[in-house]
Amino acid sequence: MSKPITAIIVGAGHRAETYASFSKHCPDKLKIVGVADPNELRRKMIAQKYNLAENQCFESAEELASKGKLADAIINGTMDTQHVPTSLVLLKAGYDILLEKPFAISEEQVWQLADTVKKYNRKVMICHVLRYAPFYVEIKKHILNGELGEIISIQTAEHVSYHHMACCFVRGKWNRQDICGSSILMSKCCHDLDIIMWINSGINPTKVSSFGGLHYFRKEHAPKDSGEYCLIDCPIEKDCLYSARKHYLDHPDRWSFYVWTGIEHIENPTLKDKEEYLKRKDHLYGRCVWKCDNTVADRQAVMIEFENGSIATHNLIGGASRPMRKIHIVGTEGEIQGIMDDSVYTIRHIDTRPGHEYKEIVHDLKIRGDMTGAFGGHGGGDLRLVEDFVNVLQGHKPSISCTSLEDSINGHLVGLLADRAMTENKIMYFDGSNQLS
Ligand SMILES: NC(=O)c1ccc[n+]([C@@H]2O[C@H](COP(=O)([O-])OP(=O)(O)OC[C@H]3O[C@@H](n4cnc5c(N)ncnc54)[C@H](O)[C@@H]3O)[C@@H](O)[C@H]2O)c1
Repeated sequence: MSKPITAIIVGAGHRAETYASFSKHCPDKLKIVGVADPNELRRKMIAQKYNLAENQCFESAEELASKGKLADAIINGTMDTQHVPTSLVLLKAGYDILLEKPFAISEEQVWQLADTVKKYNRKVMICHVLRYAPFYVEIKKHILNGELGEIISIQTAEHVSYHHMACCFVRGKWNRQDICGSSILMSKCCHDLDIIMWINSGINPTKVSSFGGLHYFRKEHAPKDSGEYCLIDCPIEKDCLYSARKHYLDHPDRWSFYVWTGIEHIENPTLKDKEEYLKRKDHLYGRCVWKCDNTVADRQAVMIEFENGSIATHNLIGGASRPMRKIHIVGTEGEIQGIMDDSVYTIRHIDTRPGHEYKEIVHDLKIRGDMTGAFGGHGGGDLRLVEDFVNVLQGHKPSISCTSLEDSINGHLVGLLADRAMTENKIMYFDGSNQLS
């Protein structure tokens, strides 16, 4: 049996911790041997959880890199703007990296990272967790079997729920591209664009266009008489669908890893602690959703054409009642339509028999029991991704979901170009300079 892969957490936030927890489920496969984070509290929490000594804790990726190579790999869960700068020094120091998405915030950064990976011959896998969700894996298998014939069209949609939208993209830390580095398309839907590229694997996109913007979560839509802060000065809070009390106190576990980061130092904070915190004006999550400093879009449509004439669309809709990811792939001989959140998809084939038009089979993954157990997050994707990363480093065959950096480039470029298409009101063309050769 191979020895466990040793890994150091860089950026000890919610995401890196989720991936690192794989070592608790499978200690024979992954061992956490260090942490790097400027946040002392988080360093200490990780050190305690993984039994790390002081000399295994570092204040930054840069400090860690200056010590040479101390483990097989890095789990890089820093924020979007830091993915490339932290990875460059760690690649140079000799590490392979499991890297969060979006792995870059500009086309220049995409190529900077790709060139460095090539130069040092390292393995970098991107956390496109949806590729590992059984729902998408099963769909990909039908595509690989050629069951749909030649793909004509791929339609995807992500409906971001009202509470997710408000927490992350209106009040929270992905609400301004000039600060967090990413547009909402890149931070939320680089997964869906990646799924489109994966379904059409090996076929390069040629054109991208996009429409959308920020329309609803703006000052002019604020209800009459509303205040600036839900729990301080808002007389209509009780009737408001976006009340911070309703979103975060009535559902204290919902988005807790974002909303309560400022009171991480309090062990098991009470509801009272949380209410007091929401009443602070320097706390992001108590703000009226129509009076925040958000600039990212709340809706966006993307259209893509590929070199073989196939087409794809993705719709991002912020503020939906129900969170949902949908996919509909149509090929020359059949189609697949499904909703990830239901774990159900239907496959249809042409049926020319008299009295028939098509035949269909409904696949319910819940009935098959594929969605349960320790591998639950992101439709089952989170920890399966870590397992694949470990397998690849141990020299085993990668799974069909494997998301090497090279494999993730087109999806990221499509997202970055779509944002330019939307803001510059243009069609963007892929050419030799922005296409993976
Ligand atoms: N794959 C997914 O589906 C998914 C879902 C949510 C978020 N994400 C991505 O995960 C990433 C992390 O999100 P999060 O909410 O866990 O972030 P976070 O802000 O909770 O954690 C980031 C950590 O990085 C640390 N850090 C900052 N500079 C550093 C440096 N130079 N060296 C080492 N550490 C440093 C910060 O102190 C912080 O603790 C983001 O890029 C986000 O877009 C991915």
